[in-house]
Amino acid sequence: MARTKIALIGAGMIGGTLAHLAAKKEMGDIVLFDIAEGMPQGKALDLSQCGPIEGFDAKITGTNDYADIAGADVVIVTAGVPRKPGMSRDDLLGINLKVMKAVGEGIKNNCPDAFVICITNPLDAMVWALREFSGLPHNKVVGMAGVLDSARFATFLAWEFGVSVRDVNAFVLGGHGDTMVPVLSYSTINGIPVKDMAKIKGVSESRLDEIVDRTRKGGGEIVGLLGNGSAYYAPATSAIAMAEAYLGDQKRILPCASYVEGKYGLDGLYVGVPTMIGAGGTEDVIEIELSDEERGNLKVSTDAVEELLEACKGLDESLA
Ligand code: APR
Repeated sequence: MARTKIALIGAGMIGGTLAHLAAKKEMGDIVLFDIAEGMPQGKALDLSQCGPIEGFDAKITGTNDYADIAGADVVIVTAGVPRKPGMSRDDLLGINLKVMKAVGEGIKNNCPDAFVICITNPLDAMVWALREFSGLPHNKVVGMAGVLDSARFATFLAWEFGVSVRDVNAFVLGGHGDTMVPVLSYSTINGIPVKDMAKIKGVSESRLDEIVDRTRKGGGEIVGLLGNGSAYYAPATSAIAMAEAYLGDQKRILPCASYVEGKYGLDGLYVGVPTMIGAGGTEDVIEIELSDEERGNLKVSTDAVEELLEACKGLDESLA
């Protein structure tokens, strides 16, 4: 049987981390694609030389030619420009939209049966545009944001309560931006609602609000600290969890930027929702009950995503 092939479009900080994780987990053979000449080849060589030490046999190659991603089973897209300090995700729109066009065409022409995970920001707009440009079915193109945002939320909750991160189930909905909706009512410490745990531990509501706010701005906090680039370890590991769910037909329920038509009152939009991932790609979107306040917050977030889509349509008439 042929080995699984994983194509990573963009061999920068996230791309390199993805390649290392995928190789360590023996997920398959890995192709690192980038427009920068020599860089993906150099990273592939460096990563290949981890093999004898770490004990993996994955074949890792670097390329500047889309033909080399032919037949890929999974494609993870990080190509584009990351945020610089003071730059919002939305500032990236114009630059990264052009990148999505090139990447979408590369996927359409070489691996139209792949499961495609987009990480490039502004995420909810870029995954929508990538789907449009590639022409793949909606269930085969998904955005990585919610797994990361939920992990950030879980980390902060675990620190606050002094408990293991393994026992925190934190829930985030909506767009991947400052309007994202961390949902406390569905977040638990091993089944104990966070609000109940807060009462037990004497954590005030205003402190929980601070944690929600820090989660919303979690990416920006890291951008500010790094000074040159954006987060890459946690984004990479989040996308790998999604790829594993697809390749292993795991039927995991993960928060992903999925195409939503009908549910949540939405009409054909990519936005963060609980999604079942299995061999069929995004197999189902789970519509949960929300309070009026949560529904209102989700509306603010989806309105922000819709505005970005309008801006994309203005920038590229093939999207209108
Ligand atoms: N095709 C392929 N690769 C491209 C293209 C393109 N048209 N344009 C840029 N790239 C490559 C760059 O050469 C670079 O190597 O994309 C890579 C991006 O890597 P980094 O700059 O290191 O960015 P990274 O931290 O990996 O983040 C990538 O994820 O979180 C988001 O906002 C972030 O959009 C950014 C993306």
